[in-house]
Amino acid sequence: MTAKKSVLVEKVEETKAVEEKALIKKIKTPQLLRGFRDILPEDQPYWDAVHQKGAELALAYGYDRIELPLVESAELFARSVGKQTDIVEKEMFLFPDASGTNIVLRPEATASCARAYIEHGMVDRPQPVKMYYQGPMFRYERPQAGRYRQFYQLGFESFGSADPVVDAEMIILGNILYNELGLPVVAHVNSLGTPESRTQYKVELVAHYRKHRNDICEDCKRRIVKNPLRVLDCKEEGCQNIKNNAPQLLDFLDEASKEHFMKVLEYLDEMNVSYVLTPHLVRGLDYYSHTVFEFYLADQEEGKRQSALGGGGRYDGLVELLGGRPTPACGFAPGVDRIMSAMKEKELSGLRYQPTVYLAPLGDAARKKAFPLFESLRQGGVLVTQTFGKSALKGQLEAADKAKVRYTLILGQKEVLDGTIIVRDMESGAQETVDIGKVLGILQKKMSSATLS
Ligand code: HAM
Repeated sequence: MTAKKSVLVEKVEETKAVEEKALIKKIKTPQLLRGFRDILPEDQPYWDAVHQKGAELALAYGYDRIELPLVESAELFARSVGKQTDIVEKEMFLFPDASGTNIVLRPEATASCARAYIEHGMVDRPQPVKMYYQGPMFRYERPQAGRYRQFYQLGFESFGSADPVVDAEMIILGNILYNELGLPVVAHVNSLGTPESRTQYKVELVAHYRKHRNDICEDCKRRIVKNPLRVLDCKEEGCQNIKNNAPQLLDFLDEASKEHFMKVLEYLDEMNVSYVLTPHLVRGLDYYSHTVFEFYLADQEEGKRQSALGGGGRYDGLVELLGGRPTPACGFAPGVDRIMSAMKEKELSGLRYQPTVYLAPLGDAARKKAFPLFESLRQGGVLVTQTFGKSALKGQLEAADKAKVRYTLILGQKEVLDGTIIVRDMESGAQETVDIGKVLGILQKKMSSATLS
């Protein structure tokens, strides 16, 4: 009878389990949107290294932090980045807000910085005004390796100086940033000269493309009419040969533009920056004049599609274009996502919090004591960590091992009653029991002697 019943019970439970499983299957977890990504805890050492290096260089080179909104008017980017650019034509996250105003998630922040410069009357401050930002940008691009729809940039912008030393400073700053993060880079540089010096060039460029009208893509056909320089951004396979044989802008620069560019290169030589002249580099944004540049890994595998680790240039006409007083300006934006992935690929270590002490309480009474002890150690300058959510000694010792600490403090029931704590040396395995009131001083002493030796 009992055996029979238990078979029945088993059957019922089995059916219930199958039903529950089916129900779970029906509840689909909402997925990440295409082109978006989570930056996980294991990515943070790289994230922190990039942001800390950016902030450190901004401080040293005199760039003040600015926080800009993620949402701006659509018009800001149409007027600055340019109506015929990929960014504005195809990639903007554009939608009307509740009042019907067209707004965009910012695709970049140089235009926002220029807007802020005008809006806050920064032209009346001592020039140049140098600003630094970091944060997410949004472009509705085709997702692929190193190309996200939400990505992150650092940004350095300098307003109010036309001196080539500023162009050079941006490239030198970039070179230092990548190198100090462990990435050997090469800067691709070019000069777009002034709008006047580009007029004759555009005529020649259009003539060249017209000769090949039947072989170029639809975008290029449109662009030679509307905004000829943009044909040089074309990534279509069939257009590459035509682009490579196109006339070069450098041959059309006026004397002042040539001289400006030569001075920039002289500064780069002085600082041993590795660069290559890249005559067809025009960048994907319309606001540039004179120097433009992009950074690439220097030791990139042959044939592997390169993606720029950052880019920038001079944009002397932008502030005026947006309604401000004529103001020369120049800037640079490193791409955080691509820097992080290059660091990972090269197995660089990033920036990690390396604790020296792990605190392991055993049982409830010990945990209660552990909280204030942990705080007194932390406030006393000890780099301490814990996993109070783990209860067994084995699990906590494994966590201590994983955290690569030098000492583990073990606080059991007996120690709580005695007012003591065990200090375990994780290298030798040696343990000593010490007065809990003295443990901070003991650790501080151990650590200072470790630093001396
Ligand atoms: P940009 O070349 O469009 O320039 O972007 C700068 C960097 O951002 C790129 O070199 C790349 O590393 C990163 N980036 C761009 N798009 C993506 C994406 N979809 N996914 C991942 N990373 C990306 C600008 O945005 C200008 N505002 C730079 C500037 C500052 N010019 C003057 N001042």
